[in-house]
Amino acid sequence: MLLEPAGIKSVLFVCLGNICRSPMAEGVFRAHVVSAGFADRFKIASAGTGGWHVGAPPDERAIAAALARGIDISQQKARLFSVDDFQNFDLICAMDQENFAALEQGAAQAGFGQARISLLLDFAPDLAELNVPDPYYGGADGFENVLDLIEQASQGLIDQLTLSRR
Ligand code: 4NP
Repeated sequence: MLLEPAGIKSVLFVCLGNICRSPMAEGVFRAHVVSAGFADRFKIASAGTGGWHVGAPPDERAIAAALARGIDISQQKARLFSVDDFQNFDLICAMDQENFAALEQGAAQAGFGQARISLLLDFAPDLAELNVPDPYYGGADGFENVLDLIEQASQGLIDQLTLSRR
């Protein structure tokens, strides 16, 4: 997917529960944006397609894994994806194809807003994987793998978004 970088001012990361993958993606991408010097130009958030954990902080394993890489996601609160997000965000990054399909179905029902929907790993074309795997039912190593994938894609995304401003 080729982005028009200057048109992207807001990014929403979406997974199933909004307590593992998308909060980590939000935290990692925000850290990349801050270190690239664009903190004041972007709105960054995350949401889940399922509502079981609404209002809860991220999974403690996700908090610990992110903190070990210097990223504090402990203050985030899970929220359910809303069709309003299609209007309120320029780019929506799904963690896996299941989340992507749920978003496309929602977009078809709601009428498309301005948002472009992509898989997060579209921004890490060197990786063989398409999906950021759900670490919820696994061990700590799953969270490390998720962070590795997210970091690569997040760097790829920030590179695309800042290209025209260099
Ligand atoms: P996430 O992981 O989509 O990465 O936040 C999950 C968290 C909770 C559940 C599923 C996935 N759950 O079924 O409660």
